[in-house]
Amino acid sequence: AGVTLSLPRRAEIVAIAARYDLLIIEDNPYGLLGFESDPRPALRSLDAEHVIYLGSFSKTFAPGLRVGWVFAPMAVRDKLVLASEAQILCPPPLSQLVVAEYLSSQPWLEQVKAFRELYRERRDACLDALTALMPADVTWTRPEGGFYVWMTLPEGLDAKAMQPRAVHARVAYVPGIGFYADGQGTRHLRLSYCFPEPDRIREGVRRLAGVIADERELRQTFLGLAGPQGVARTGGSQPNGQAGGPTADMR
Ligand SMILES: Cc1ncc(COP(=O)(O)O)c(C=O)c1O
Repeated sequence: AGVTLSLPRRAEIVAIAARYDLLIIEDNPYGLLGFESDPRPALRSLDAEHVIYLGSFSKTFAPGLRVGWVFAPMAVRDKLVLASEAQILCPPPLSQLVVAEYLSSQPWLEQVKAFRELYRERRDACLDALTALMPADVTWTRPEGGFYVWMTLPEGLDAKAMQPRAVHARVAYVPGIGFYADGQGTRHLRLSYCFPEPDRIREGVRRLAGVIADERELRQTFLGLAGPQGVARTGGSQPNGQAGGPTADMR
């Protein structure tokens, strides 16, 4: 989350797949929602033989319709049709008709552009609040598109263990461990800025900063963990120098 694959790396990955005859699954529901430039070319557009492309209307139209699409090499496509028929027989025709009508009668590309502006504003609100409110040894990505910021907690904190405290403060995130198959990611968490308006995003970040401060204090008290080390930040964030903020609790 929060990272966009660069053009040279796209070409390299496709070249590796072609060299070793591998199939790539390109799961790309946020591909049209870039903030900085026109969408980067899909891997599928660079190599139709080695890429299975997954698209979705969940992020640009309506998640509740549960309609998406697949571009796949013919041999895979036949298998997918069989698998789909075995699992669900047929995606709901009413949902498909709604999507077909939307695409044929609405200026959907213009709407996607409007969504990009909306999400850019929310991304900026989230990044500004993080810069202002987080202690210096919390870091995060600066997303160039999509819905999420990927955050790294200071050494010794565990996003999953901290989650009940966050829920109690009524601020939500997804612990990073859910994005790995092997138990990594304990210090990471995913923040979503897509739905709340900027004021609520700032309030959410303020609460999260309090949750991190409380969690750190608890761990220091019982486990003797070190305080903030002034670790350099990513994402263009600046040390906040905030008196009385979470860093001030680390004595
Ligand atoms: C990377 C990624 N792929 C797929 C999906 C789900 O898409 P859909 O609603 O079409 O199942 C999501 C939604 O959160 C996502 O983040």
